[in-house]
Amino acid sequence: MACLSPSQLQKFQQDGFLVLEGFLSAEECAAMQQRIGEIVAEMDVPLHCRTEFSTQEEEQLRAQGSTDYFLSSGDKIRFFFEKGVFDEKGNFLVPPEKSVNKIGHALHAHDPVFKSITHSPKVQQPHFGGEVSPHQDASFLYTEPLGRVLGVWIAVEDATLENGCLWFIPGSHTSGVSRRMVRAPVGSVPGTSFLGSEPARDNSLFVPTPVQRGALVLIHGEVVHKSKQNLSDHSRQAYTFHLMEASGTTWSPENWLQPTAELPFPPLYT
Ligand code: FE2
Repeated sequence: MACLSPSQLQKFQQDGFLVLEGFLSAEECAAMQQRIGEIVAEMDVPLHCRTEFSTQEEEQLRAQGSTDYFLSSGDKIRFFFEKGVFDEKGNFLVPPEKSVNKIGHALHAHDPVFKSITHSPKVQQPHFGGEVSPHQDASFLYTEPLGRVLGVWIAVEDATLENGCLWFIPGSHTSGVSRRMVRAPVGSVPGTSFLGSEPARDNSLFVPTPVQRGALVLIHGEVVHKSKQNLSDHSRQAYTFHLMEASGTTWSPENWLQPTAELPFPPLYT
């Protein structure tokens, strides 16, 4: 990977994000898309993730099942869906390939195509994503003391105003982390809660960041960003993961994402 130029570095430090167009070739994007198509075609959708239950007890069981499905997904390839894509019996209301909001969180570890593109970042949380409300990535990936977090977001398809491109509040990475998602005691539903809260954001401060297929967006861990729901006919696949500063820090045991014996966080520098 080429180094950033001084002006690119300055832009990143000023805005808290940086667009690098043409990072991946069209062929590399096509390979990822093809592989995702295969993975989705073979996906096994757990019942508790696609069935709407009616009684309160069943609702609680479903919530617990979903919580476990999420909290234990750090070292697996699992599927997370858009809202409203299932009927009450768990049948797809839309084509399955259009139902997925996110695939996570270990594509980089288990799939050769994604492994070859990701190499070995420190911590990865890859997904193919849809709508994401305003947040800072460091709220979800926390070290003690707070080390640097860097998000890497690669557009596998053109990301436009219509299909859910990223939006940033430039310069918002200098005001600290407003909230932190922590694990609740084992067995709790929901399985996570927040310390602090995300302040109401002035929508007019967000700047859209449409990019072409193959672009890489560097995201400072504390810059406020979001993406809107994709209401267009065009999908907007992106591959994203995170790198965490490990030197002089301890990975918080309260983070939802925990390394496992089978899949420890791969070090970037070895
Ligand atoms: Fe993010």
